[in-house]
Amino acid sequence: MLATDIDGATATAAAAGGAEKREYVKQIFSQIAPRYDLLNHLLSFNIDRRWRRRAIAALGVQRDQAGRYMDLCAGTMDVAAEISRLPGFRGMVIGADFAEPMLKAGAWKIRGSRTAPVAADAVELPIASGQLAGAITSFGIRNVAGLDEALAETLRVLAPGGRFVILEFSTPRNRITRTLYQLYFHHVLPILGRWVSGHRTAYQYLPRSVANFPVEEELARRMEAAGFGNVSWSALLFGVAAIHVGERPISGRK
Ligand SMILES: C[S@@+](CC[C@H](N)C(=O)[O-])C[C@H]1O[C@@H](n2cnc3c(N)ncnc32)[C@H](O)[C@@H]1O
Repeated sequence: MLATDIDGATATAAAAGGAEKREYVKQIFSQIAPRYDLLNHLLSFNIDRRWRRRAIAALGVQRDQAGRYMDLCAGTMDVAAEISRLPGFRGMVIGADFAEPMLKAGAWKIRGSRTAPVAADAVELPIASGQLAGAITSFGIRNVAGLDEALAETLRVLAPGGRFVILEFSTPRNRITRTLYQLYFHHVLPILGRWVSGHRTAYQYLPRSVANFPVEEELARRMEAAGFGNVSWSALLFGVAAIHVGERPISGRK
C-alpha cells in the first residue's frame, strides 16, 4: 500500500472540480505512474488501445506530416509514441503533462522517436501561439482543473486550421447500458484499481470524475465557446467514451 493521506472525501471533492483538484490529480498520477499502463489495459480490457488509434486517425496527421503536434496530458505517452511512428511522419510530437513520474514511466516508449516530453500544465503551456499543426488528448482533459482554460490555451497554441481531438469517457444514455457501466465503473473498477495500484482513492476518483464531466453536447458547446470551429463528436461503445474534434478557425471563418 502506498503511503498517502488522501481520503475518499478529497477524491470526491476533487472529482467535482473543487479547489483541491489540481494538487490531488497531480499527486495521484505521480503515485500510480509505475502501475498506470498495466491498470489501463487491464481495466479497459484493452479497448483503450483501439480508441486511442481512432482518436489519432481523427487528428489527420497526413494533412501535415512535417508539423508539430501536442499530446496534451500525455501521461505515459502512448499517443505521442504512436503518432511519432506513423508511416511518413517527419514532424515532432510534444508530450505535455504536469506529472513528471508519468512522463518518466513512459520514456522507454519514445526512445529514438520524434517525441519531446515536456513537464507543463495544460492551462499554461510553454509553447508560443499558433505553433502547432494539431493537438490531441486522451483521457486527460477530464482531469484538468479548469476545462475552459485548457480549451482556450490549446486553441492559442494551434495554428489556424489546426485540429484538436479529445478522447474522453462519457456516460451512456441508454438505461441498461448505463446501469451495467455504472456497476462496473463504480463498484468493480475501484476495488481492482486499489488492489493493483495500491492506491486508496485514485480509482474512486476516476468514476466520480467521469460522472462530473460534461456530456457530449455540453463538451461540444464548451469547445465552441472557447473559439473552436467545425466541432463534431462521435460516441464510442454505446456512449462509454467519445471523440470530439474541433479546429482553430482560419481568420474570418468559424
Ligand atoms: C488518465 S491520464 C491519461 C494519460 C494518457 N493521455 C493516456 O491516454 O493514458 C491523465 C493525465 O492527465 C494529466 N493531467 C491532469 N491535469 C493536468 C494538467 N492541468 N496539466 C497537465 N497534465 C495534466 C495527469 O498528470 C495524467 O498523466
